[in-house]
Amino acid sequence: MYPDPASRSASLFARACEVRPGGNTRLAVYQAPYPIFVAAAAGCRVTDVDGVERLDFINNQSALVHGHCFPPVMAAAAAQLQRGTCFSGPTDAEVALAENLQHRVPGFERMRFTNSGTEAVMLAVKAARAFTGRFKIAKCEGAYHGSYDFVEASRGSTPANWGDARRPARVPYSKGTPPAALDLSVVFPFNDVEAAAAILEAEKDTLAAVIVEPVANRPGMIPAEPGFLAFLRAFTQRAGIPLIFDEIISFRIGVAGAQAGYDLVPDMTTLGKLIGGGFPVGAVAGRADVMAVFDQRKGSPAVPHTGTFNANPVSMVAGLATLKAFGEAEVARINRMGEAVRAAIGERFARAGVEGQASGAGSLFRIHFTGARLTDYRSAYPTPAGQAAVSALHRALLNRGIIVSANCSGNLSTVVGDGEVERLLDAFSASLAEVRVPA
Ligand SMILES: Cc1ncc(COP(=O)(O)O)c(C=O)c1O
Repeated sequence: MYPDPASRSASLFARACEVRPGGNTRLAVYQAPYPIFVAAAAGCRVTDVDGVERLDFINNQSALVHGHCFPPVMAAAAAQLQRGTCFSGPTDAEVALAENLQHRVPGFERMRFTNSGTEAVMLAVKAARAFTGRFKIAKCEGAYHGSYDFVEASRGSTPANWGDARRPARVPYSKGTPPAALDLSVVFPFNDVEAAAAILEAEKDTLAAVIVEPVANRPGMIPAEPGFLAFLRAFTQRAGIPLIFDEIISFRIGVAGAQAGYDLVPDMTTLGKLIGGGFPVGAVAGRADVMAVFDQRKGSPAVPHTGTFNANPVSMVAGLATLKAFGEAEVARINRMGEAVRAAIGERFARAGVEGQASGAGSLFRIHFTGARLTDYRSAYPTPAGQAAVSALHRALLNRGIIVSANCSGNLSTVVGDGEVERLLDAFSASLAEVRVPA
């Protein structure tokens, strides 16, 4: 049972606290009173350092679309290890991965690789600034685009500080955020064309870019309404502002990402997670003329971009092996499973007489203790009682051998079958019976 003060995880965490602030180096994987340390994983099963095996519905924050130790990825990475791990020269692997992505998505005319999604967003922002000569970045309230000051405003907004829904406050996420970073941030509400239009029109001569997730992660993988993205595309096109889609999570929703579900093409797309097959990665892909800011062939580029581990061949071969095994059939199968899981959770809430739902798209889901229509950050923001129920559900699922993230969001990998889905749903029903639900 978790927590157990006598566990190896608890003692490892005590040791970790002596060498790292908070015993942690990645906030997302912390849980109180201590995180569960992992010993090994295979497929959709993770074994912790105390020998407890659980079903994994996080898959390292959705990065492992084929689960752990997927044989084609392991083989590609192992073969690359024999040839060397990183060189001060390019490899054919980075060309092959870029070609695979280019064949999938119409707007991926050129791309650059980084080591994380955060870096990919940072690079896209720099490209947009160099391309336009302007500096401000517009982003949706509550959206997470990585740990970068210029896209963090409002990421942790609360009812106490978020202000007017139609003109959200630019709340700093970290202490120490330079006022200049906030001054160069514009925040608009997701899925509200009228409010977004008023905010963006007033800033149109100052904006270097508008960044948006076509399917928003923070509220629970809520798809943008087609009219909202159509407005953003038309507005940015008219004003000459690059439109960036952050598909670092949502890319797994379609063979060509979530953007394939909308009849429009952004100027740049940021990628990460699954395209590295479980190794560190990020990428910016987009229009050739915008991406030309990185082109060094005619002298010093507008945006000089380098990085010791960019396009490291292990990530590249693992990413390629992942994508080669992630075609129409695999995407459709896990998306169908995702649809079924969301529907079944909704039915089980109803059967238990508890107000709740599972939101999401494709193979991604999040469980909420509200029946309200979820359209954006505010509508999905839990009440204190709703948050307590989510935390209790997370704990109850964990103790039934099911791993979802602390806010009860999860995703399905291609190695999950009907048996695992059944275990998830049975554990959900049993856990729900234990959770004190909001009045
Ligand atoms: C939408 C989105 N953008 C950016 C990032 C940052 O990516 P990374 O954790 O690889 O830096 C994430 C990570 O979860 C994300 O979900």
